Amino acid sequence: MRSLWVRLTAGLVLLLALSCLGVGAATWVEMDRFLVGRLDQQLTESGGRFPASLEHDRWPDDAAHAEPDARGQAEGTFCARVADGRVTGGWVVRGRATVVTDLAADDRRTIVALAVGHPRTVRLARLGEYRMLAVRGRDGDVLITGLPMEPVESTVRRLLAIEGVVFAVVLLAAGAGAAVWVRVALSPLRRVTAVASHVAELPLSGGDVALPGRVPATGSGTEVARLSAAFDRMLGHIETSLVRRQRSQERLRTFAADASHELRTPVTAIRGHAEFALRRPGDAPEHVRHALRRIHAESARMGDLVEDLLLLARLDTGRPLAAEPVDLTRLVLDAVDDARAAGPDHRWTLELPGEPVEITGDEHRLHQAVANLLGNARVHTPPGTSVTARVVERPGEVAVEVEDDGPGVPDELRGEVFERFVRADPSRSRRAGGAGLGLAIVHGVAAAHGGRAELAAEPGRTVFRVVLPR
Ligand SMILES: Nc1ncnc2c1ncn2[C@@H]1O[C@H](COP(=O)(O)OP(=O)(O)O)[C@@H](O)[C@H]1O
Ligand SMILES: [Mg+2]
Repeated sequence: MRSLWVRLTAGLVLLLALSCLGVGAATWVEMDRFLVGRLDQQLTESGGRFPASLEHDRWPDDAAHAEPDARGQAEGTFCARVADGRVTGGWVVRGRATVVTDLAADDRRTIVALAVGHPRTVRLARLGEYRMLAVRGRDGDVLITGLPMEPVESTVRRLLAIEGVVFAVVLLAAGAGAAVWVRVALSPLRRVTAVASHVAELPLSGGDVALPGRVPATGSGTEVARLSAAFDRMLGHIETSLVRRQRSQERLRTFAADASHELRTPVTAIRGHAEFALRRPGDAPEHVRHALRRIHAESARMGDLVEDLLLLARLDTGRPLAAEPVDLTRLVLDAVDDARAAGPDHRWTLELPGEPVEITGDEHRLHQAVANLLGNARVHTPPGTSVTARVVERPGEVAVEVEDDGPGVPDELRGEVFERFVRADPSRSRRAGGAGLGLAIVHGVAAAHGGRAELAAEPGRTVFRVVLPR
């Protein structure tokens, strides 16, 4: 069964139906016993007067032609006489007279077997059910009086029919009433559910902190009201912590942006000075020149890192990027040209559609993303690896794919490769790769364009894909 509402209503109606059945059964049994008891009383009180009239003085010798006196006897009253263990005759009152009734052999046996003084219910073949009482007559024979059970049965039937109708009406009314009542009682629960499912739909991880909708207080101290109140407090707590998280994230972002911005100038200065000194080393000894070369190389690396950090910080603030027409085919072509020049030991392949593919976006950032993917395919694979760059058009989207047949992304990185500072064994990649920000930038740029970055890896084939909406 579906809802609590249906279950509770059905349960109530079922209980009520069981009670009705109980009441019905009890009244049936009690009524039957009462009416039969009354019949017995009538039989006892009549004391066999009806059959006793058979022993009337009119026919002292000719018992066979005797006829009982029907005066004062109710319609359907039965009488019989048993002499010497045989039924001498049976009569029934019809109208004002008595009518001789045929008794089947079974009926005769049943009548003879009646114990004197104990009323019993007996079924006669022609007459139906009778309540019969045997009394001893004056001349030693047994006199039987019987009253029909039919009025008792019809009264009980009528009572049951009335009860059935009344119970049906009561059940219907109670069912409808219970349905309405349970619904009203559970309505705060429905509101809690509505708010809960609404909140569950909210993209809470996305930094949204407004939790719209509260459960309206219902006042009374029922379980449902307490649940609503607790749920309400919980929403409040969640909102507070979301606001706190949001603030600290904002602080962190501002800090990262400010820090990288502040670092930019001194790093550029160090690099400039090192370059200047290297161009005019004068008579500086070789070890000083070596140190200068290291300073120059490391400050260049640091400059790249600062630029990456600054870019990520900017992407984080959600500031809109440039929205200009970008020829993706051209962009990929140029990027592969650069990669080919940087990695002559790799085999570079291009797969481009016949027509130029143009989208709207930030050309500079997109170039950087594609260059990062190509750079990874060069840096994280051994020489001789084949790298294929392609632009794939799909309905509503364009994908830029960079595929290589190198060793692939290490298993432990696969799930989080687009996170910041995630990279293979740092000691190895210190020389080979960067700080682990390349793919984070790819992901950030794709997201800023309303697209996504994906990794599809299978043995011998690593595909990084940037999907952009058209
Ligand atoms: N084409 C690739 N083949 C194998 N591993 C890769 C490839 N591209 C990226 N990776 C793995 O993903 C890690 C993260 O890449 P990235 O974010 O660009 O950081 P970085 O290149 O600075 O190490 C790399 O350190 C490398 O282990
Ligand atoms: Mg990289």
